[in-house]
Amino acid sequence: MKRSLLLILLVAGFLTASAQNVSLVNGWKFSPGDSTQWSATGFDDKSWQPISTAESWEPQGHDKLDGFGWYRLHVVIPSSLKNNAFFKDSIRFDLGYGDDSYAVYLNGQLIGKNYNTDPKSGFYGLCKTTIKTNDPAILWDKDNVIAVRVFDTGGAGGIYGDPDMFSISMIDIMDYARINTESDFSYGDNNTLGKTVKVETGSNYTYKGQLDITVVDPETGGSIFQKTTDVTFAKGSPYSYALTLPNLQARSYMITYSFKDDRSGKKLINTEGTPYILTPYVHAKPQINGANVFGAHPGAQFLYKIPATGHKPLVFKVDSLPAGLKLDATTGIITGTVNQKGDYHVVFTVRNRLGFAKKKFTIKIGDVIGLTPALGWNSWNAFGLSVTDAKVRVAAKTIADKLSAHGWSYVNIDDGWEAPQRAASGEIVANEKFPDMKGLSDYVHSLGLRFGIYSSPGPRTCGGYLGSYQHEDQDAKTYGDWGVDYLKYDWCSYGEIAPKEPSLDDYKKPYQVMRASLDKVNRDIMFSFCQYGMGDSWNWAGEVGGNSWRTTGDITDTWKSMSDIGFHQQAEQPHARPGHFNDPDMLIVGKVGWGDSQHNTRLTPDEQYTHISLWSLLSSPLLIGCDLGKLDGFTLNLLTNDEVLAISQDALGKEAKEVFKNDNYLVYVKELEDGSKAVGIFNISGKYQTINLNWAELNLGGYTKVRDVWRQKYLITNNKTFKTNVPSHGVELVRLGK
Ligand code: GLA
Repeated sequence: MKRSLLLILLVAGFLTASAQNVSLVNGWKFSPGDSTQWSATGFDDKSWQPISTAESWEPQGHDKLDGFGWYRLHVVIPSSLKNNAFFKDSIRFDLGYGDDSYAVYLNGQLIGKNYNTDPKSGFYGLCKTTIKTNDPAILWDKDNVIAVRVFDTGGAGGIYGDPDMFSISMIDIMDYARINTESDFSYGDNNTLGKTVKVETGSNYTYKGQLDITVVDPETGGSIFQKTTDVTFAKGSPYSYALTLPNLQARSYMITYSFKDDRSGKKLINTEGTPYILTPYVHAKPQINGANVFGAHPGAQFLYKIPATGHKPLVFKVDSLPAGLKLDATTGIITGTVNQKGDYHVVFTVRNRLGFAKKKFTIKIGDVIGLTPALGWNSWNAFGLSVTDAKVRVAAKTIADKLSAHGWSYVNIDDGWEAPQRAASGEIVANEKFPDMKGLSDYVHSLGLRFGIYSSPGPRTCGGYLGSYQHEDQDAKTYGDWGVDYLKYDWCSYGEIAPKEPSLDDYKKPYQVMRASLDKVNRDIMFSFCQYGMGDSWNWAGEVGGNSWRTTGDITDTWKSMSDIGFHQQAEQPHARPGHFNDPDMLIVGKVGWGDSQHNTRLTPDEQYTHISLWSLLSSPLLIGCDLGKLDGFTLNLLTNDEVLAISQDALGKEAKEVFKNDNYLVYVKELEDGSKAVGIFNISGKYQTINLNWAELNLGGYTKVRDVWRQKYLITNNKTFKTNVPSHGVELVRLGK
C-alpha cells in the first residue's frame, strides 16, 4: 500500500481491532544504554527490568534518562492470524508511540525504523512497521523476540501508549478501505444537518455489501435515524451517501457507520458525534471584544488591533491615547512607541450605521508584557514539519478575516522553518519553504497581527533542524530584525549539553541565556518555554522571564490526552499571573494532522466544548492548532464565543482551581477581575448526567446571577442550588455574578 494511504487510514482511526490481534501490552523488559547484542534472540535479558508500556520510561525509575534504551519481549505469533485473514500477505507490528527514534528488530533482524542513518535524527511519532508474511524473520507458532532500540532526545522517552496501540495484526481487506467522514457538515433550516459520507478503497478488490448508518441520542439511547443501503465500491469509484438529519436539538448525536463486505465477511466501523452550535450570532451593532488591558515595554514598537464585531464598515476612535501612538480609524490598528512608563487609561469607541460601542481599556507601559494569555495560531498541530510560507499566510489571512475581531492575534511558525546550515557569519537562515521571512512578518503585521517563531537551546530542534546553541545572541538579533513577536523555545537536544542529572540551575540555564539575548533586542518578544515542565518549571519559569511555560509533554487529539493534561494542572495553578502563564499545550480542534495531511480532530463536539472551556479557565495560551484554510462552521463558532474568551482574557490572570472532584464530575472555579466567578462543571463519565450542585458547599454562595456562557443567557435558578444536564465528556460553563 502507498505510505500516504496507509497513513490516512491509520489516522482516520477506523482500524477495528479484530479478535485476531496478538497483544503486545505485557511482558516487556527494559535496559537503559545501548549494545548491538541486545537485538539477538539468544541474548539473556533475565536481569533486565520489567517495564510497562502504559507510560514512558521516566516514571519507571529512569527519571532523567535521555539517550538510548532497549525494550525486549518474547511472543508467539500464531499462524491462525494469517489463516483467518482474507488478505494474507502483510503483517503489522504496532508499538505505541516511539519517543523519539526507534529501530524494531524481530529475532535479530531489523524490520523497521524511523530514521535514515543517524538514530538521533528520528522524530517522535507512532512506532510501527509492516513486513511480508513470508519474511524469514518471523517464526510462526514459535517464540519470537521483538527488540526495540529507542533514542530519546529529551523529556519523556520509550515506547508507550494505550493498550490498543500495542499489537501484531494482519494488514487485511478493511485496512485498504475507509468510511470517509472528513467532509464538513452543512447546516440547513429546521435544525437540519447534512453531510456526504464516502466509502472508498485504494486496493484492486471490489467491495460489495451493506452500509448501515445509525444515529443515536446519547441521552436516551434511542435511535433517531437508521438506514441500510447496498453498497459497491472499488478503486477510483467510491460510494457516496448524502446524509440528512432534520429537527435536531442543540446536542451532539452519535452516528455509527458500519460497512460489512459480503465475500470476506469483514466489517468496517466509523463513528462521529454531530456538531451543534452554541455561540449565538454576532450582533450587527458594534461590540468591542478581547482583553481590557495590554502591556508593552517603553520604547518598543507597539501593535494592537482593537477587536470589534458588527456590520462593516466600522469606524474606530480612541480617547486619551498616549503620546507616541496613533490609530488607524478604519482598521482599528494602533501602532507607534510609548517612551514613558505608566498605566494609560483610554476609551475605545467603535461605530457603524447601527450604533456604537465603548470600552475602557488600559495600556500598561512597563516591565511586563503578555498580561493575558496569548490568543493565536501555531503551525505544529496542523502541519508539523511541512509548514510553509504559503500555509502561514493562509492562517494569517483567516485570523485577520474571521478571528481577530474576537481578539486572536498571534501567527506562530513552529519547527521546520530553519535551513540546514547557518550563513558563513553564523546567522540562522530560513529554508527554501520560507523565501522571505521579513516579508512574511511584514505581511502578518500589516493585518494587525503578531508574528511568532520557534527554536531550541540545543544544537538541534525536536524536528532535527538547527537549534540556537551558542548562537543565542545572533538568533535573538535575527528574530528582532525579522520582526518576531513571540519565541517558542524548546529543550530538544539540550539534553546532550546539560549534565546527565540536571540540577535546577541546569534546567534554568538555557532559558536564562536566551532571556539575556532577547533582552538585548529592542522588541517585545513573548518568551514561551517548551521544556515540558521539567524541574517543576512552574515554580521558577516566571522569574526566569518566561511569559508561558509548557507543563506537559505533547498533546494529541484524543479525550485521553486532552483530559489527562487539562485536569492535572493543579500543582501549577497558583503560579499563573499576568505576564506569566502555565501552558498545557496547544489546541486540538478543527483539522489537525502534524504533517502533510489533516483529519478532523478525534475529539467529539462535546469534548471540544470542554477543551476550550477548560483551557480558558486554566488561563492557558490558546494557540489554535488546525489548518485554518479549512476552518469549518463548528470550529469557527467554537473559537469566537466572546464571553468564553473573556474568561480566558480576564485581567486578573488567575487560573481556575478544582473545587470538587468525584469519579463522575469535576468543578473548576476561576476568580475574575469584576468579582464574578467562572465555573466549569465537567462530566468526565461515559454517560449523560444530571449534576446537582449546592453553591454554598462549594463556597460559591451569595451569587444571584447565573449566566450560561456558551449560550450567553441568564439561567433562572434559586441562588442556592444548581441542576444541570451535561453530556458525557461535556461541560456546563457558567459565570456567577452578584
Ligand atoms: C516538541 C514540542 C512541539 C513542537 C515540536 C517541534 O515536540 O513539544 O510542540 O514544537 O517539538 O519539533
